Amino acid sequence: MKIAIITGASSGMGMEFAKQLDLSLRKTDEIWLLARRREPMEELARSMRHKTRVIVIDVTNEREMKQFAEVLAIGKPGITALVNCAGTGNYGDFLGQSDKSVSDMVQLNIVALTRMTKLCLPYMRRGSRIIQLASGAAFMPQAAFAVYAASKAYVYSLSRALNRELQGRGIRVMAVCPGPVNTPFLTNAYGDISHLSCLKKLTMMKTESVVAKAVADCKRGKSVSVCGLPVKLLYFVTQSMQNLLQYFT
Ligand SMILES: NC(=O)c1ccc[n+]([C@@H]2O[C@H](COP(=O)([O-])OP(=O)(O)OC[C@H]3O[C@@H](n4cnc5c(N)ncnc54)[C@H](OP(=O)(O)O)[C@@H]3O)[C@@H](O)[C@H]2O)c1
Repeated sequence: MKIAIITGASSGMGMEFAKQLDLSLRKTDEIWLLARRREPMEELARSMRHKTRVIVIDVTNEREMKQFAEVLAIGKPGITALVNCAGTGNYGDFLGQSDKSVSDMVQLNIVALTRMTKLCLPYMRRGSRIIQLASGAAFMPQAAFAVYAASKAYVYSLSRALNRELQGRGIRVMAVCPGPVNTPFLTNAYGDISHLSCLKKLTMMKTESVVAKAVADCKRGKSVSVCGLPVKLLYFVTQSMQNLLQYFT
């Protein structure tokens, strides 16, 4: 059996990836939706064309991840696509954030994403795809969003390195790097989104267009999907600087 796995499928971009991949995925028998809240995933599953499996899981929970690993080990599915959308951010001064909030962010954005990727890779074959939700925040450190931006820099770096490392196996890895997108992430991160800068408010993107671009970029075999003009400019500048440094060192 061939399956696609989407984490963070109960909301925002994970949910949108599920909808768009449901229409575009070929040679995939089932789409597996993973998150902690069952209800939104079941509602989504009812509207999908593919056979859909809802898996209620906290991807930061050791025991639940072991159970998921067993499900894969028993079923031995071929994984055609893994989309890692589960992620969170907390805006605010580093020292003002609770230890738990910082640790939760690291556990989810870094540890769980890495573990899920490692867990799924043995079931992937030539042509399989991994899409990792990084962020435009990956390209530059951000005061008052320090741990979040650092966690996304990790996702970006891991994705690019794995894309190179897995070339020989014909598996592609793509990092998705949008600016602000209108999902519950923003209210969870900022509380009151009036804290957002005017630039962020003006350039906020729709979930549908970010995901549509990511799906198209993935089909084209890109290693990075950058959405939104300010993030594209930032990407261009940081890449150019890196290339320049490499040239002189
Ligand atoms: N929105 C933006 O402005 C923006 C911009 C750039 C990058 N991103 C990144 O895009 C990704 C998706 O974010 P989004 O905007 O779609 O946010 P969202 O709507 O808040 O979705 C986050 C998803 O993660 C799931 N999740 C959270 N903790 C989990 C856990 N412990 N175990 C399993 N699932 C968990 C949530 O489901 P449950 O609560 O049901 O578990 C939810 O489905 C994140 O990695 C985020 O950092 C977002």
